[in-house]
Amino acid sequence: MSSNKLDVLYRQVIMDHYKNPRNRGVIEDDSLTINMNNPTCGDRIQLTLKVENDIVVDAKFEGEGCSISMSSASMMTQAIKGKPIEEALVLANTFSDMVQGKDVEVDEDLDLGDIEALSGVCKFPARIKCATLAWKAMEKALHEEDK
Ligand code: FES
Repeated sequence: MSSNKLDVLYRQVIMDHYKNPRNRGVIEDDSLTINMNNPTCGDRIQLTLKVENDIVVDAKFEGEGCSISMSSASMMTQAIKGKPIEEALVLANTFSDMVQGKDVEVDEDLDLGDIEALSGVCKFPARIKCATLAWKAMEKALHEEDK
């Protein structure tokens, strides 16, 4: 696929997650809750995760932000649901490298799914913090759970 077509496809995936966010809301019971904001713009996210036996069984988010931050939160919650903590953290590292434009070697077992649509963010350094906001919240929550 030409890179132009790929850009258009990726933009459609991002807008779909922005307009129809997956996993929007709050998990009420026994959840880990993390609030995080992007200090440069004030956009914020509240992430709630439910972890059982080291598996992320549920993930939801609330918040306000730009299309990149909100679509990224939607993709992230979709990607980590049902995954072991360890795998969710590997995914967070891979994603962070990807949006910084680093060469990422993706393990073939690791399904990036829609997340790949955000790979173009590396061309816009000012937006990297938008893309990683929800992922940083997830890492923080899971590291605290691990303690
Ligand atoms: Fe605020 Fe993107 S502009 S998170």
